[in-house]
Amino acid sequence: MSRFFNTAGPVKSEKHYNIDPLSRINVNEMLSLINQEKYFVLHAPRQTGKTSYLLAFMDYLNKQGKYKCLHVDIEAAQAARENVKEGMQTILALLSQNASIYLEDTFFKKNWKEIFEESGEFIALNEALMQWCRESSKPVVLFFDEADSLVGDTLISLLRQLRTGYTHRPRLFPQSIILCGVRDVRDYRILSDKEKTVITGGSAFNIKAESLRLDNFTLEEIKILYRQHTEETGQQFNDDIFPLVWELTAGQPWLVNALGYEVCSRMKQGKDRSKSITKDMINQAKENIILNRETHMHQLLDKLKENRVKKVIEPILVGSKEPENISDEDIDYVVDLGLIHKKPQLGIANRIYQEVIPRQLTYSTELTISQEASWYMKTDGSLDMDKLLKAFQEFFRNHFESWVDGFDYAEAGPQLLLQAFLQRIVNSGGRVEREYGLGRQRTDLLVIWPYKNGECIQQVVVELKLRYGSREKTIKKGLEQTWEYMDKCGTDQGYLLIFDRSKKASWKEKIFKLEKTFKGKRIPVFGM
Ligand SMILES: Nc1ncnc2c1ncn2[C@@H]1O[C@H](COP(=O)(O)OP(=O)(O)OP(=O)(O)O)[C@@H](O)[C@H]1O
Ligand SMILES: [Mg+2]
Repeated sequence: MSRFFNTAGPVKSEKHYNIDPLSRINVNEMLSLINQEKYFVLHAPRQTGKTSYLLAFMDYLNKQGKYKCLHVDIEAAQAARENVKEGMQTILALLSQNASIYLEDTFFKKNWKEIFEESGEFIALNEALMQWCRESSKPVVLFFDEADSLVGDTLISLLRQLRTGYTHRPRLFPQSIILCGVRDVRDYRILSDKEKTVITGGSAFNIKAESLRLDNFTLEEIKILYRQHTEETGQQFNDDIFPLVWELTAGQPWLVNALGYEVCSRMKQGKDRSKSITKDMINQAKENIILNRETHMHQLLDKLKENRVKKVIEPILVGSKEPENISDEDIDYVVDLGLIHKKPQLGIANRIYQEVIPRQLTYSTELTISQEASWYMKTDGSLDMDKLLKAFQEFFRNHFESWVDGFDYAEAGPQLLLQAFLQRIVNSGGRVEREYGLGRQRTDLLVIWPYKNGECIQQVVVELKLRYGSREKTIKKGLEQTWEYMDKCGTDQGYLLIFDRSKKASWKEKIFKLEKTFKGKRIPVFGM
C-alpha cells in the first residue's frame, strides 16, 4: 500500500509521509545531555510529534548500543487520579509491558508485583528502577511520555521517587530521564490532596537540567512533506499553495498533515492524481477539517472552557487595547497549549485556530439561529448585505441581552454573536474570514460568497467596532479602517457596525443606520 498523510498518532516512516523525526531536535544536543547524565524535559503542544520523536530516538539509542533505552507512555495512570497506589501500579505495569515489547526484557514482568508488596506505593517505582538498573549491563535511559497527564499526589510521588533515585545514577538509577508532555515540569502546579497545598513541579523535581521544546514545521519542511506525495503519486501541488498552507497552519504538524490528507485522500477533486492541488482546494480542505471537528480540534477547544485560557483569549477576541492585565503565567500556559504565539506579538497561533475559536464558542448558538441565506439572496444569487445587516440589527436588539446573560465570553459577546449569525447564513456555500487581535480595537470580517455556480464571488467587508468615546469619533476611525480593509481585500462592498455597550443608553439611541462614503467608496454604518 502506498504511503499517506498521517492524522492519527505517531508517524511510521514506512506507512506515512514524514519529516525524519530525528531531524527535528539536534541529536548531538540530546546525546550530550544524556552523556552528561542529565534529567530533562521535552515539551510541545498536542500533536506536534513528541511521541514520534521519542520513539525514533529510542530506536536510535538502542541501535547505537551504548545505552538501554525505554519509552513508556504513562497516560493510563491518569485514571488513578489521586490514588497513588493505583497510579504506581499502573506505571509499573506499563514499564513491564513496554520493556517486554521494545527490549524483550522481562525484569519488571517477573519482579514488579513483589517489589510493590514489599516497598509500598511511595517507593516501589524507585526500588524497581534501582534493581532494574543494577541488573542491566548498560546504563539505562528512560522516557516518560505524557508525564503531565498524571494528577495530584500521584504526579508528586512520581517526581519525588525519580528525584530520590537521581543521586544513584548511572549505576543504580537511570543515567538520564526525559519527562515529556505539553508543559514544562517547572510550571506544573500540582494540588496535593494529602498535603492540602499546591506543590510546584519545580520543587518536587528540582533536578531538571533543561527544557527542550519541539517546534512546529518550517515552510521548508511543509514542502518536503508534501513533495513526498508528489514523488509517490505524481500528483502536483501548485507552488502558490505553500504560502497558504503556511498561513493556515503556521506549521502545526497535525494541521499540516490534516490538510494534506483531506485534500489528497478525501476530497473527490483531489483524489484524481492527474489534477494539481490548487489554493481553492486547500481552502475547501480547511473548511472541511474545521467542520469535521476531529480529536485534535476537540482537545484544543475544550481548553477554552478553562478560566485561565479565557483570561487570555477573550481580550484577543475583543481586540482590547490594554493587554497588560493578562498575567505572564496565564500567557505561558496558553502558549504551551499551542493556542497562541507570543511573537511578533501575542496572537492566535494560526489562521485555522483563529477561525475555529469563535466558531467553537458559538457553536450551539449558530445551530439555534433560524436564518437562511435564501432570505437575503438577490435574483442573481448574490447576498443583499443591506437587508442582511438590517436583519442582524433587529436580531441583535431582540436577543443579545438574554443570550449574553451567563455566556462565558460575555466581553466578546457582540463580536461572537455577529460571527455566529454570518456563519449561519454563509454555511450553505460561502465562508467568513476573520482578523482580530490584541490592540486592534476592531474585528475585520470578510464574507466570501460564491454565486452563479461559482462563476462569481462576492466579497464583503464587515467591520465591527465597539464604541469608545463619542459616536462620531468611533465612526470616523471606523470608516478609515473599513476602507483600508476593503482596499486590502480588493472589494467595493463594505459595512461598518458600531456596538454601543453602555448600560445607560437606550436601544433607541443605540440603533441607527447612516449612509456614508469614504474616499469614494460607499460604507453604510449600522449602530446597535
Ligand atoms: N515527523 C513527523 N513528520 C510528519 N508528521 C508528523 C511528524 N511527527 C508528528 N507528525 C504529525 O503530528 C501528529 C501527532 O504525532 P505524535 O503523536 O508523535 O505527536 P505528540 O506530540 O506525541 O501528540 P500528543 O500530544 O497527542 O501525544 C501525527 O499524527 C502527524 O500528523
Ligand atoms: Mg504523544
